[in-house]
Amino acid sequence: MKVIPSGESLGAAIEGMDLARPLPPAELEGVLRTLGQYGVVRFPRQQLTGRELRDFSAQLGDLEINVGSQGYQEPGVPEVMILSNIVENGRPIGLADAGQGWHTDMSYSRMIAFANVLYGIKIPKRDGTALGATQFANTQAAYADLPADVKRVLEGKTVLHDFNKFWEMMRREKGSKRPPLTEAQRKSKPPVSHPAFLKHPLTGNKVLYANPGYAVRINELPEKESDEMLEFLFRHQLQPKYLYTSHWQERDVLVWEDIGTIHNAVADYGPHEHRLVKRCQVMANRYFREDEL
Ligand SMILES: [Fe+2]
Repeated sequence: MKVIPSGESLGAAIEGMDLARPLPPAELEGVLRTLGQYGVVRFPRQQLTGRELRDFSAQLGDLEINVGSQGYQEPGVPEVMILSNIVENGRPIGLADAGQGWHTDMSYSRMIAFANVLYGIKIPKRDGTALGATQFANTQAAYADLPADVKRVLEGKTVLHDFNKFWEMMRREKGSKRPPLTEAQRKSKPPVSHPAFLKHPLTGNKVLYANPGYAVRINELPEKESDEMLEFLFRHQLQPKYLYTSHWQERDVLVWEDIGTIHNAVADYGPHEHRLVKRCQVMANRYFREDEL
């Protein structure tokens, strides 16, 4: 395997690997090491069935069957969720607006996410340029650069993450057709707290774990101070020096780890510019216990 760094704050490509077969332990270790070092890793020119995508992803950790994926799953492989704006016989074949806004997957969950694995099957293009890029921000670097007084204030503090925040943002700001969450849905996804700073399981570095999509409150601060601090943290981690944009090519597998990065799906394509991506969600229970989070 050959690792080609992007030269930016995040990102590398690994050439010469076939993800359709089980990885020998040394290769799996190499993938994890590269993921720790670069946060986002692209594997070009893969040829995977839904089952092979699931089996590759499962080598990185336990897979989550996403509650929002019902109706948008690979037949017979519920761990594989379909992200698409394609409509067949009047019915969407996938979730069309997933992840359009800066966030960390599953930060609203007791057990957080470790990684995402996406496989790009149909990538929209305009005038030869690929659309629907995935953007990332480096939360290890964002932590390292925090002013000393902010580090001091937030050390040992916890942040409340609420699934409904991103849902409502999609409804209000993005004109999504999502209905409001029902009382029962909100009860099934109560907000959860995690430390403001986590230790990255692959690098040992601290990360800022307070993403704009789900973080609603620093529990131990008065509301006004919490609001101001979150506003600062959201702006801080999205400074251009921490950003990296991954441009898709068809048959790319893109893997990112969710602890040292936040991400955003760029919505720059129309309903007739078709996109089809398959996705697995890898959880972090190999690295954290719920009571440490
Ligand atoms: Fe996401």
